[in-house]
Amino acid sequence: MAQDLHEAELFEEAAARFGTPTYLYDLPRISDQAESLRRAFPTAHMRYAVKANANGALLRHVAALGFGAEALTLGELERSLRAGFAPGAVVLGGPGVTAELARRSVEAGVSLVSLDGPGVYELYKPLLGCAAAANLRFMVRLNPGFDPDTHEHLATAAASSKFGLATEDAARLAESVASDGRLAGFHVHAGSMLTNAEVAHMVVAALEPLYARFQECTHVDLGGGFAVPGAPLAQFAAAYTGFAERHGVELILEPGRFLVADAGVLLTRVLHVKRGAKTHVIADAGMADLLRPALYGATHPVWQVGADPAEATHLADVDGPLCENADRLAQAAPLSTVSAGDLLAVRQAGAYGFAMASNYASSLRPAEVVWDGAALRLARRRERPEDLWRLETND
Ligand code: LLP
Repeated sequence: MAQDLHEAELFEEAAARFGTPTYLYDLPRISDQAESLRRAFPTAHMRYAVKANANGALLRHVAALGFGAEALTLGELERSLRAGFAPGAVVLGGPGVTAELARRSVEAGVSLVSLDGPGVYELYKPLLGCAAAANLRFMVRLNPGFDPDTHEHLATAAASSKFGLATEDAARLAESVASDGRLAGFHVHAGSMLTNAEVAHMVVAALEPLYARFQECTHVDLGGGFAVPGAPLAQFAAAYTGFAERHGVELILEPGRFLVADAGVLLTRVLHVKRGAKTHVIADAGMADLLRPALYGATHPVWQVGADPAEATHLADVDGPLCENADRLAQAAPLSTVSAGDLLAVRQAGAYGFAMASNYASSLRPAEVVWDGAALRLARRRERPEDLWRLETND
């Protein structure tokens, strides 16, 4: 309860100072999660998946913890460099690498690239002669072709997904990279929100024949995917670390959600309460601010700030302010008696929360605030109406 009291005060202060909706990130909590990862995988090189949350203050914190970054787009690469990640600790990957991104990654000094397919390698080949590419090496992304037991949108290991190459195609690309003396290893990101430890065993089983065949490999990158809540970290660690040790290669991991999900809450104020067959709590945040419930049917615990969870016995939908049914933060959430003006904290919102926020219906994206253990600090101001047309050119 002391924890609840502290949180209630902090959340109320943040809402009072910065308004709502606001994302609040607890930096010490990120440090704790980093520590849990380090304890589970003491030998792994950690590359934070920037897509989970790319706020600059948060990135700087993660960089200062000694993590590298995993970047997918030009924007993520530039943000990572700006936040202080060493270029040599950035892993670049993804299915949509462009010539511009390939050029920029080489020029910046990125030294490890995951090839999603042969087309990406073709973009790099003309750059291999550059001085900046002297240490550049590649991993080939394997599509292991199994069901990783998660939401279909997040099941990147599925044979039907666009990611990576099936074993024989991956081996063919690896031959070509190896003949240029540039093969570092293979990469698998089986999916996100992984809760089933069997997945880890299936990942390493899929990689065994490739590491038996390509003895020159020095690295294996097993992606991210650890669920919040519910990642069986110790079991993943046993399978992954065991594989890396067996083959004498360096283990790379790309956790996103695990590091930041629990550290973030979305603070939102109740605008109206409509009681009928169902209770609809209309909040000032919705799918434009936190898309996960609408897109994946994701569940985020909602806490009526200050209320005793033991008294949260009324079920209500927490809906957003926009004009469609999908605009909802929670369905049948247990709450106490709620009134207009109450503050709600939507939990586990630090990953893929603000990162997927949009200006749909000309919504203004929320403020982002960090708690550093001693003080609250504005990390990104709330958008204003003029931000909506700032980039338009036909005025
Ligand atoms: N590495 C690669 C190559 C990835 O594609 C991803 C996530 C990660 C690492 C980090 O995965 P994590 O540890 O965060 O699970 N928007 C979705 C999540 C999509 C994840 C996409 N890839 C959501 O809100 O659940």
